[in-house]
Amino acid sequence: MSIQQQASHIQEAVDYIASRSPVMPQIGLIMGSGLGILADLIEEAVTISYESIPHFPVSTVEGHAGELLVGKLGGVPVILMKGRFHMYEGYGAELTAFPVRVMKALGADKLVVTNAAGGINTGYSAGDLMLLSDHINFTGRNPLMGPNDSAVGVRFPDMSEAYSRRLRALAKEIAAEQGFELREGVYLAVLGPSYETPAEIRMMRTLGADAVGMSTVTEVIAARHCGLEVVGISCITNMASGILDQPLSHEEVIETTERVKSRFLNLVQTLVSR
Ligand code: 6GU
Repeated sequence: MSIQQQASHIQEAVDYIASRSPVMPQIGLIMGSGLGILADLIEEAVTISYESIPHFPVSTVEGHAGELLVGKLGGVPVILMKGRFHMYEGYGAELTAFPVRVMKALGADKLVVTNAAGGINTGYSAGDLMLLSDHINFTGRNPLMGPNDSAVGVRFPDMSEAYSRRLRALAKEIAAEQGFELREGVYLAVLGPSYETPAEIRMMRTLGADAVGMSTVTEVIAARHCGLEVVGISCITNMASGILDQPLSHEEVIETTERVKSRFLNLVQTLVSR
């Protein structure tokens, strides 16, 4: 796609969303599987289905349609993606960047990304929350591939502080106040959809990863490219392959998410309000 086309697609999506809601979002939120219920806490919410937004990809996640919500969370204007685009669904990495750029063009300057991930660090257990200190992009894809629009960001963006030191410190402070231990570690992203083998998990541990998942990194790359300050939180829904003597299942991922949901939501909500 040409730079002009990219820019006009973003503008058309922005114009449409702005026509539906007068709120100018300060913070964008991308909620991972099972965490979309944060949407229920948004005040004065305008809900916009993905398929109605010009050029927005249509999500196939979890069998229900994705929605964008614009409104306020604890008084702060936000834009929230309920359901994200995974590359294992067949979407290209560039598509995962599109909603992030739209959020930025609508006025957001910060992005909160959340996901479900498998624990690689043997000190972790299912139900832990992990702040992303950094990531390893093992997807083999990059959303910035192709012509670069220098009005959006530079050709070779710096990734030395992908996850804001300042926002991480704030998240840790809030977790301490709320009385739970917030882990901090490196998130490694793969394409999926199959889970890893035990050998792959051993390799990832050797490479310095603490958790593994199938999302987030392409969105964060796009966010850093366009200048958003990012904070990321993983819900460790299960231990990765080969650590416990049991097979992995999506059911376990869903059950754990249910169990820690309220802790997770309190953290994100407080983070946004501060
Ligand atoms: Cl173990 N691996 C991957 N790739 N994604 C996950 C996961 C594991 N657990 C939750 N999501």
